[in-house]
Parts: sequence; C-alpha cells; structure tokens
Amino acid sequence: MENMKKEILYSRDQIDRRVMELAEEISRDYAGRELVLVGVLKGAFVFMADLIRRLKIPCIIDFARLASYGSGSVSSGQIVITKNIEMEIRDRDVLIVEDIVDTGLTLSYLVRAFKERGPRSLKVCAFLDKRLRRKVSFEADYVGFTLDDGFVVGYGLDFNEKARFFPDVYIVTNL
Ligand code: IMP
Ligand code: MG
Repeated sequence: MENMKKEILYSRDQIDRRVMELAEEISRDYAGRELVLVGVLKGAFVFMADLIRRLKIPCIIDFARLASYGSGSVSSGQIVITKNIEMEIRDRDVLIVEDIVDTGLTLSYLVRAFKERGPRSLKVCAFLDKRLRRKVSFEADYVGFTLDDGFVVGYGLDFNEKARFFPDVYIVTNL
C-alpha cells in the first residue's frame, strides 16, 4: 500500500515498560534455570532482542520460520516449517517468542512440532494477542498487549514487508 494511513497504538515508551515487566515475570518463573528462547522469524526479532536484554537469567537463542500456504488470497491454514531450529531442545526449558497470535494456527502447529522433541518445558511469549481472530483455541503463556482485531505494523511487524522498522506499533486505518 503506497499511502498507508496509521495511528499509534503502542508507543515505544509503553512498549519498553511492558517488555521490562514481561522480562521480570519470565526471570522469576525460570529463576535458577537456563532458558532456550526460540524466535519466530521474521516478526519477532525486534521484540526478542529487547526481551533478552531485560532478562535476569541466562538464555541461549535460536530461530524458526514458518509459512502458511493457501490457494489465492485465502490461507488454507496449511503450515510448514521453512527454517527449523538448529539446537537440541530435549530436556531443555524452551520459550517460543512470537510477534502476534492471530488465528492461532502458526503457534499451535509449532508447539505441537516442538513437543515431539521432548523439551523439559515449553511455553509461548507473544508480544501481541488479537483475541477475536482465533480459528483454533490457543493461549500464550505471556502476552505483551491484547487487542480485539485490526492490522498492526511496526516493532518488527510488517505489511507486505513494509513498516517493520518503526519503533512504535501502529494500527493501519485504511485497509
Ligand atoms: P496466526 O494467524 O496466529 O497463525 O498468525 C500468523 C502470523 O500472521 C503472525 O505471526 C504474524 O506474522 C502475522 N500477522 C497476523 N496479524 C498481523 C498483523 O496485524 N500485523 C502483522 N502481521 C500479522
Ligand atoms: Mg510471524
């Protein structure tokens, strides 16, 4: 979209404060353990970079990437992993870090796939949760902000690869 109209939804200060709170909560929950954070590319890379620098526990990181295929513009909900993690996660504490839970299809697929690898624990931290768009029931364990619906960009989130670099989160108003 050439002339994207948008309004600030979460400012960088609000985001900073919320990421700090999440990091404190996660650090408390995993105290004394080493966490494996798995970022879901590409959207989660900004959030994950901020989050790990606020954690008070040691962590190691890896990344995965998924694609969802469908016919034409309609997503079939058919998900494939296009880049898998490279780390052994058996008996490890794993936290998936995702930009947004929308239909829930991506994360429920990924959680199922990772469970087969026998992690000691597996949880999900999502920066945003779009509550009204679920196609499958899915609840993240940690959520930054909750909204009902709408298309958001910035802070890693894109619209056709545009707008990821904005430091604040915007809601697109002319879709
Ligand atoms: P799912 O529908 O829960 O499987 O979410 C799949 C992916 O869609 C998310 O990880 C995001 O990359 C993308 N997505 C969903 N809603 C938005 C949005 O409002 N802005 C940007 N990306 C989105
Ligand atoms: Mg994504």
